[in-house]
Amino acid sequence: MPEERVEPKDRSTVRSLLRLWPYVKPVRKRLFGAALVAIVASCIGLVIPLVLKWIVDGPVAGRDPGGVWLGALYLLLLGLAEAALFGVRRWMVARPLAGVEAAMRADLYRHLQRLPVAFHDRWPSGQLLSRGTTDLMMVRMFLAFPLTFLLVNGTTILIGFIILLMQQWTLGLVLLAPVVPLVILCAVFETKYSLVARKAQDQVGDLTTVVEESVLGIRIIKGFGRHRSQALAFRALSQRLRSTELGKARLLAGIWAAITTIPELAIGAALVLGTVQVADGGLSAGTLVAFLSTALALRWPIESIGFLLAMSQESATATERFFEVMDVAEEDDMAAADGGAPKDTATQGEMVFEGVEFRYPDAEAGSTPVLSRIDLRIRPGETMALVGATGSGKTTLTALVPRLHDATAGRITLDGRDITAMPRQELRELVSVAFEEPTLFSASVGENVLMGAEGAGEEELRRALAVAQADFVYDLPEGIGTQVGEQGLSLSGGQRQRLALARAVVGRPRFLVLDDPLSALDVHTEALVEAALRHVLEKTTAIVVAHRPSTVMLADRVALLSEGRITAVGTHQELLRGSAEYAWLMAGATSAQEGSFAEDAFPDPSDEDRLVPDVPAEKGRTR
Ligand SMILES: Nc1ncnc2c1ncn2[C@@H]1O[C@H](COP(=O)(O)OP(=O)(O)O)[C@@H](O)[C@H]1O
Ligand SMILES: [Mg+2]
Repeated sequence: MPEERVEPKDRSTVRSLLRLWPYVKPVRKRLFGAALVAIVASCIGLVIPLVLKWIVDGPVAGRDPGGVWLGALYLLLLGLAEAALFGVRRWMVARPLAGVEAAMRADLYRHLQRLPVAFHDRWPSGQLLSRGTTDLMMVRMFLAFPLTFLLVNGTTILIGFIILLMQQWTLGLVLLAPVVPLVILCAVFETKYSLVARKAQDQVGDLTTVVEESVLGIRIIKGFGRHRSQALAFRALSQRLRSTELGKARLLAGIWAAITTIPELAIGAALVLGTVQVADGGLSAGTLVAFLSTALALRWPIESIGFLLAMSQESATATERFFEVMDVAEEDDMAAADGGAPKDTATQGEMVFEGVEFRYPDAEAGSTPVLSRIDLRIRPGETMALVGATGSGKTTLTALVPRLHDATAGRITLDGRDITAMPRQELRELVSVAFEEPTLFSASVGENVLMGAEGAGEEELRRALAVAQADFVYDLPEGIGTQVGEQGLSLSGGQRQRLALARAVVGRPRFLVLDDPLSALDVHTEALVEAALRHVLEKTTAIVVAHRPSTVMLADRVALLSEGRITAVGTHQELLRGSAEYAWLMAGATSAQEGSFAEDAFPDPSDEDRLVPDVPAEKGRTR
């Protein structure tokens, strides 16, 4: 994917950088003031040669030591003033620019949180990480240096040349001669450099992805002894980055060489011509000294243009990369258009799927949808178990309810209201979710659970922990205050699942969506959780993905999902009798455990011949 992004449509450096304006606007006065200070400082540097001229033509020619000392004092004062003003400039911009960087980073983070799940499915996390770190740092550095100094050095060069031309226009023209080839070289450099700069920044993103995956997947890497292949992959990527960086360095070296050599040649020529003119008496020695020291004073502003352009180019690329993410549309949010729609008490607590169809955004056009023609009515307070083979679409179906994805056709209603017409905030207050792979954040146990309900208190927390059979938390070193997540205590899979379940039930949601949240529990704990859940679920309308007969028993009815279709709905007993596939699924689950449901699980003998052909093939990708 990063490879595709190497060639954005519009690569005008200036246009990219102009997009920074909204962020720069609040600090524009500071930034402009600082640039003025720098221009003044730089002009003071240009006054120094004029003082030199005065010293050479006045006190030196007139053999007046006092005058020379005075001149030296002036030079010292001018030098000090120049240094002090540059210091002031730095001080003026440092804080506001750190603020700009922080504001951009905050916006990026906020935006990432609001982007649809489909976006995160598509984008590697390392690419997002590098945009939020390296790229933004580059933007800040651009605002601090190249932006100001392209202006300052440009002005200095202009004023410097005016002084040169006024002192001796013929010599001035000699120095001006290299401008044309330099401008052409710079333009060529810009174009080439922008391509490699983009490539390098994308490669940093890829590298970040590999590092991140290796850190998150360290157990797999160790378990399978994959250090070597992982290291090879890393080395290959970092070699690629290295050669791109070397390419950048070569370009930079080339432009640098041209920018330093060509003016140097011009200064040499001017020196020869000037000396001849002084010998002829057409020019005073002081003027030549002033002329040459002005030319030398201009050397740095001119030389710096190469790397200032390079830095601007990189910052333009960084800005592009930043806005590539910012330009992706956030999840649309309905204004509460029918937020006040009459709530029919008959539909209160009802969850209905009507002709729902879904295909993933990256699916090929014309491929069969992951879900199709889903019609399901879950009555208020009812618990519906969702059973199906791996890859049949259970996770996908549950993800549609909290709108992690949007159905491509049909609609889902809660309380009789279309979920797409509900503000997301409201939807997410109505619906609670727990997934098979529980995520805990770096926070305390209590904070992790309470994320499920705003404003819930200690009592609610304890109740939720009890429902989820998560009493183990009281034995942790600091009880509910124990830090868990990446930077905290590591919990077992079953422990994490129970916390995630507690998070789902803590807010006593009206609708509960559980995607196989008990899979890592032993059968006995599962039974306890179920008993408690049954109590909670009394008033909650729930859809629960289940594999084991014991979980299914918890449900009032069961829906069988087969290759993206609901093929049967009924009670556990009804489905066991009526559906060979269901019986087969349950039989497998039972024999894998302890066989307590074995008698129930086997289908009627009459169904037996249908058993094998009905087994759906396991699809490749499971999440
Ligand atoms: N993010 C995704 N992008 C594209 N296809 C996906 C994605 N997630 C799942 N799938 C595909 O959708 C199908 C159903 O997957 P899933 O809903 O996870 O099944 P289940 O939970 O029943 O095992 C599978 O074929 C899977 O490959
Ligand atoms: Mg699943």
